[in-house]
Amino acid sequence: MSAPLMSLTWTDHVTGRQGFLVVDRLVRGVASGGLRMRPGCTLEEVAGLARGMTMKEALHYDPGLRYVPLGGAKGGIDCDPREPGAYGLLVRYLRAMRPYVESCWTTGEDLGLTQDLVDRAAAEAGLVSSIQAVYPLLDDEAAARRRLADAFAVEVDGIGLDELAGGCGVAESVLTALDRAGAPHAGTRVAVQGLGTMGGATARFLARAGLVVVAVADIKGTIVNPAGLDVEALLAARDSHGTVDRAVLRRGDRELPGEAWLSADAEVLVPAAVSYAIDTANQQRITARWIVEAANMPVLPAAEGLLAARGVTVLPDVVVNSATNAWWWWTLFGDVGADAQEAFAHIRRSMRALVGQVLTRAEADGTSPRAAAHALAADRLPVIAERFGWYGDDTRRAPVA
Ligand SMILES: NC(=O)c1ccc[n+]([C@@H]2O[C@H](COP(=O)([O-])OP(=O)(O)OC[C@H]3O[C@@H](n4cnc5c(N)ncnc54)[C@H](O)[C@@H]3O)[C@@H](O)[C@H]2O)c1
Repeated sequence: MSAPLMSLTWTDHVTGRQGFLVVDRLVRGVASGGLRMRPGCTLEEVAGLARGMTMKEALHYDPGLRYVPLGGAKGGIDCDPREPGAYGLLVRYLRAMRPYVESCWTTGEDLGLTQDLVDRAAAEAGLVSSIQAVYPLLDDEAAARRRLADAFAVEVDGIGLDELAGGCGVAESVLTALDRAGAPHAGTRVAVQGLGTMGGATARFLARAGLVVVAVADIKGTIVNPAGLDVEALLAARDSHGTVDRAVLRRGDRELPGEAWLSADAEVLVPAAVSYAIDTANQQRITARWIVEAANMPVLPAAEGLLAARGVTVLPDVVVNSATNAWWWWTLFGDVGADAQEAFAHIRRSMRALVGQVLTRAEADGTSPRAAAHALAADRLPVIAERFGWYGDDTRRAPVA
């Protein structure tokens, strides 16, 4: 694939900290991609994530839906979100990015940020909304915005629907892989890194499907219990950064170091925190059969090769964690209403179909699921570009002299 359409580095005049924006590709003049905040975030990382967003959008292309895929983008800020000055930095970053958010970049929460915080900072930066660039593409903007606002107000057992959509998709990816392998749901063991938006929701859906969550890691370390953790108690004990208050641990729960989740005795590993979590050295400790990438870019390519050689299947991020982004658009464009059961049913159907296509393509091509997903996206991108244009008004292309 080609170089990104646009990449830029911003330097904060107050702190000297840097932020990045990469727009990988546009469709109808708009690109979608969240905003992350983490210490050590780089332009290269953001570019990789923006490319991933292009693929996530393309993989959900369904000519029968109202939602037409957008291009891919990503923002990143190099700062610890728990620092006292982090919010001010976020507001200044969004002020600087305002022309892009207004015209071509729709964004939302990602690692280190919650949607509430992004919304508050966007308003303070003078923006109508973090997704306003898509509004000109809507048939009935007022109705669409009302529908999305109503959907964001829906809660299921104490967690917002917007925070559950992505994890519902991750869990369905796990269940689809188990079903194809003829493995049971009940009793299958899972270890999760990260109990924030993605990891938390994934753990809930998998526990409710009968799987046993035997380990969860957050920034403070790993909590394990071979007999199964009380997922709902851990979810209820999180702070706004996804850190679990250890006071709720039960008898039988044990605290282990940060990397212990990797070597947990489990069939499924769900990295749902940071990029680059699994490398060539620590992959040796993994005994699981499946790694299901809720996080973006958690498995380094060289590690994936070694894992594949010993029969560990990695289900790739561009497929597995794509439901959050798709749910926003299905809701805004009117393919699903502001209703949790309708949303979960649509997510499950779409993710099961997509994971199935990817695994079938991987078998047919003799490649990894990641290579198969990239091939599927590469097939769809020219079709989308031809039909909708990069800038929205370029579908009747003039010949280049
Ligand atoms: N939030 C979304 O909508 C969304 C959608 C798609 C993909 N993702 C990806 O999922 C991943 C997690 O995002 P999120 O929004 O759930 O983040 P979050 O900030 O809500 O939660 C992050 C969790 O990871 C834990 N964590 C952070 N650093 C850790 C470390 N070094 N070791 C162990 N645990 C650590 C935190 O304690 C927290 O529990 C990211 O890679 C993100 O890009 C997020």
